[in-house]
Amino acid sequence: MIESDPSDVFFELHHDLPREGPGDDESTLRALALCTELPERPDVLDVGCGPGMQTLALAAATGGIITAVDAHEPFLDQLRERAEAAGVRDRLHVMRGDMTDLPFGPDSFDLIWSEGAAYIMGISEAFDAWRAFLRPGGYIVVSELVWLVDDVPAEVRDFFERGYPGVTDVAGNLQRIAATGYEIIDHFTLPAESWWTHYQSPLEARIPGLLDRYAGDEAALAVINETIEEHRIRREYPETYGYEFFIARCACPDGPEPGSSWEPGQGRVTPELGEDAADDAAEAGDEAEAADAGLEPADASSEREYPPSLG
Ligand SMILES: C[S@@+](CC[C@H](N)C(=O)[O-])C[C@H]1O[C@@H](n2cnc3c(N)ncnc32)[C@H](O)[C@@H]1O
Repeated sequence: MIESDPSDVFFELHHDLPREGPGDDESTLRALALCTELPERPDVLDVGCGPGMQTLALAAATGGIITAVDAHEPFLDQLRERAEAAGVRDRLHVMRGDMTDLPFGPDSFDLIWSEGAAYIMGISEAFDAWRAFLRPGGYIVVSELVWLVDDVPAEVRDFFERGYPGVTDVAGNLQRIAATGYEIIDHFTLPAESWWTHYQSPLEARIPGLLDRYAGDEAALAVINETIEEHRIRREYPETYGYEFFIARCACPDGPEPGSSWEPGQGRVTPELGEDAADDAAEAGDEAEAADAGLEPADASSEREYPPSLG
């Protein structure tokens, strides 16, 4: 009996989706509008960008340079294609990298964004680690799975805690963020339909075909059944958990001194991590590749799995 690699089946299930987690452009733009003191063309880092629906929304809305990082190259290819089609490829640096070990220098970004991905390292750890790249007064915006009620049903709790032991409620997340020294600007819950429209419905549509294809393959069926279970739980208990956007600003108590170093266009990557590669690519005449090459970390090979149960 052939048993597939669960990770291959997971990525087959997830390839070419509009998004890799709940969300929609309206919510992305609502969160962005709460960052009221951004410069005119901010430098933005999108961590765990996936196929980049929110990356493109940020590029269009800010007019700034967006650096988009993800561990899974096929998602990045999808983003590159979409960016070409949207006419914003020249303002996008797309790089494979590990969110726990990002290669940027201090004062690199005005805004750090992460939809549905900060949980991979933990929201406290993410806010702590990413502060190093933020300019004074810069913003961090994340969306995060949260409990919306006190009495979360046991089967919901059990299901999500398998993939994400750190899940807590909105107040718990606000405490975590405040404890890292950021000022909380605002927060709001994603609308219920943004779970389905760009994420769960397209995922669900491909399940029957995959059930046929992998009939008898226990390892593959376990992955597919986990997704079926995720959808059942979502349909049954939508009011008990959700995705919350958190918008926070860096008071930077341990960060760089205000006005310390930044000039426009400077400092997006520490020089030893690839400026030569960028120059080479530029000489070869490919500006988009040059931009990406300049941001490729020294060790971009680490590809971590993120819990399939959370997409
Ligand atoms: C739930 S998806 C969210 C994707 C996207 N932000 C969205 O909302 O569509 C989480 C993303 O984090 C990426 N990821 C997982 N581990 C990572 C890591 N260690 N460093 C960078 N990205 C990672 C996954 O490849 C995936 O694209």
